[in-house]
Parts: sequence; structure tokens; C-alpha cells
Amino acid sequence: MFVLVGVTGGIAAYKTVHLVRALVLDGHEVHVIPTEDALRFVGRPTWEAISRHPVTTSVHDDVAQVRHVALGQQADLIVVAPATANFLAKFAAGLADDLLGTSLLATTAPVVVAPAMHTEMWRHPATTQNVEVLRARGVHVIGPDSGALTGGDVGPGRMSEPDAIHAYVAGLLAGEDPEGTRAKSLDGVRVLVTAGGTREPIDPVRYIGNRSSGKQGIAVATAAADRGAEVTVVLAHVDSDVLREASAHRSITLERAGTAAELGDAVARLAPSADVIVMAAAVADYRVEDASETKISKDSTDGALHLTLVETADVLAATTAARRTGQTIVGFAAETEPDPDIRIERARRKRERKGVDILALNEVGWTKGFESTDNTLSLIGADGAVLATVSGTKRETAEALWDAVLAVRGT
Ligand SMILES: Cc1cc2nc3c(=O)[nH]c(=O)nc-3n(C[C@H](O)[C@H](O)[C@H](O)COP(=O)(O)O)c2cc1C
Repeated sequence: MFVLVGVTGGIAAYKTVHLVRALVLDGHEVHVIPTEDALRFVGRPTWEAISRHPVTTSVHDDVAQVRHVALGQQADLIVVAPATANFLAKFAAGLADDLLGTSLLATTAPVVVAPAMHTEMWRHPATTQNVEVLRARGVHVIGPDSGALTGGDVGPGRMSEPDAIHAYVAGLLAGEDPEGTRAKSLDGVRVLVTAGGTREPIDPVRYIGNRSSGKQGIAVATAAADRGAEVTVVLAHVDSDVLREASAHRSITLERAGTAAELGDAVARLAPSADVIVMAAAVADYRVEDASETKISKDSTDGALHLTLVETADVLAATTAARRTGQTIVGFAAETEPDPDIRIERARRKRERKGVDILALNEVGWTKGFESTDNTLSLIGADGAVLATVSGTKRETAEALWDAVLAVRGT
């Protein structure tokens, strides 16, 4: 196959050497097209030696070969790694002021881009819109991952690992549709998800609740349903737009549960027939010991109302204790601890205590985690390893969670 590797001006260009080598070793004819800026990071001799072909950046080199369109026309696939914010903007606008730009406009082959940049640049509305434009045109976008960035900061923006890009590209060259593969990845799998926040009554009109909107749980459920799973959601209190989304999905069955006890009963009933259980609901740890049968009035409380709160049953621990062979169980932990190391350590201990296969650690706070459309999840696996740390929309973090579940199940 004839593969073009575009390289743009980011630090991650050095990792692309590994990608080019892997593609050459696969037996492909690989031509590297760097931008002028990319050559400041990794020089022409490296690209020529590793690809075994001459390397140019400009449309004015080798004019007799009409290279500015010939490469794109011959290509079976073009992958651009790293893809800078500047490159994504140029590609979205259709600019063709260098060999990479003209080749991309001259091709009808699949195009893969692997963005790499600082988190602020990745989250900038200009970049977000450019990526949306490219996706809408059928461009495959892989990554970016979340992790340590060049400036020492941590967040989404790190280029996907060369092995992951190589695997994605190899799949496309073999005729696979990575999105299509994902779409069927939970075919026939029975999934149980809990979502929303429980409410513990004080009296017939008042309750103790929490700030969970149910968005993350429903994103997990819809992502599973879109991948072909049969999904049942035990739904505690959720925002009305979240309820609309969940009700609209053909492959999702809803069961309502108000209190922690009701949620626990529903899960105990439904869990035996589930292959994967994801407990994303925010379940109350305490309930009022003696909820009043009638509305408590100020006349009866003499300036203060004293409530005794008792612990509720631990639904997650009960579910793992009753687990049957072949079942995969995912728990969620919301932590306000600001220190990431302490947060992860606590999550590791909680994963072990609860006996879940994956614990999804959710950093929350006054302005983080709840009600927002975005989230950051760290996924802790069986040996305490951080399987992935993902930031993005709740749908994106849900997709990462399902990728991790499939990896753990070995499917
Ligand atoms: C040390 C250094 C690292 C850089 N890393 C990135 C990066 O990872 N992503 C990015 O979008 N821009 C990065 N830039 C900025 C780009 O190099 C700059 O926008 C350039 O114009 C990109 O050109 P190109 O897209 O034509 O290759 C970096 C600049 C420097 C000096």
C-alpha cells in the first residue's frame, strides 16, 4: 500500500519516526511529507533514512513529477501525526500552501489525523470547531490522549501513542472501519447501569439528595446501547433533559428508583441477568432514621430540627459479593481531594474494598463534575493500575470506559 505520513511542527514529531518505521516494516511504500516547521523538530535525513524515500516540503520541489498532486492521487491512506492546531485550522479551511496541503486536497483516500497540543489549544473553540468540520468530512481523528505535556502540565492534548496510531492505520488499510467495529463491540451484551442521585425522605415533602444530574450514567448507557448492548438503567433522580435522552433510546429499558434502598432492590433483582454492571448512580450513604409520615412543621421543632442519619446498605459491595462468573462490574467514586496522588491512592483502596473490576474515579467539587457536560475520569484496573485518564464530554469519557471494559473482558 502507498501511505503518506504528514508531520507537522510539534514536539511529538519524534514519536512519528516510530510510526513510519512500523509502516515500512509492514511492507508499505511510505512517503513522509513534513511541514517546514516540522523539520525544526526532526530533520530531513531522519525521515529520508527511515522511509527510504526523498523528502520535500514544498510544491516547488521536483516539479517535473507534479508531486503536489501525484502523491495524494497515489495514496491509499494519509496519516498526519502530530497534527498541530495550526495544521488542523489550515486543513479545515482547505489551504494548500505546501506539499502536505496540496496532497490532502488531491486525495480521495482515508485521512487520519493525530492531534497534539497543549490542553488550552485543544479546548479552544477554534480548534474544537476545526476538528468538528474535519470529522464531518469523514476525517478520522485519533486521540489526543490525556497525560503529561511538554510544559510539565497534565491534561488532554498528548498525541496518541505511535503503536495505537499504527494499529488504527493498519486496521483501515486492512479494510476495517474502526468506528464500525466500535459500533458492534457490545453486540448482544446485557448491560445494567445505575444513574442519577437517590433522595432520602425526611418527610413526605422534603428529602436529602445530591447534585448528580445523571448525565455521566446516561452517557454510559447510551454509548453501550449504540455499541449494540441491551441496556437496562436503574434511574434515580436525573435532570429532565437527561431523562428525555434516556427515554428516547430504543435499546434502553428504564426502571425508576427513588431511594438507596429502592435502587439496591432493583439492582439485586436485575444484576443476575447482566454481563456488565456499571454503577454510576450517586447513592446516598446515609438516610434519615425515622422519616416522618406527615410534614414536619416549625411549630413542632422549637427552633431546630434534629435528624438522625444512619448508613444505608452498600449496594456496590452487595453486588460484587453476589457476582456470578463472567460478570464485569464497574464502580464510580466521586472524590473532592485536590492532590491527584492521594486521590488515586484512595480510589485504589476503594476498588479493592468493593471488589470491582474497574473503578472510575471522578474528581468533583463545587464547580467540577456535577451538571457539566465535560468530565475527567481515571479508570483504575484490577491490579491498581491506572488503565486510562480521560477528559472530554461525558459521552467521550463513556466511550473510554467501554473500551476499558472490553479490554478487561478480553473481547
Ligand atoms: C517547542 C515547540 C513545541 C510546539 N509544540 C506544538 C504542539 O505540540 N502542537 C501545536 O499545535 N503547536 C506546537 N507548537 C507551535 C507550532 O510549531 C506552530 O504553530 C507552527 O506554526 C506549526 O506549524 P505547522 O502546523 O505548519 O507545522 C510548538 C512550538 C514550539 C516552539
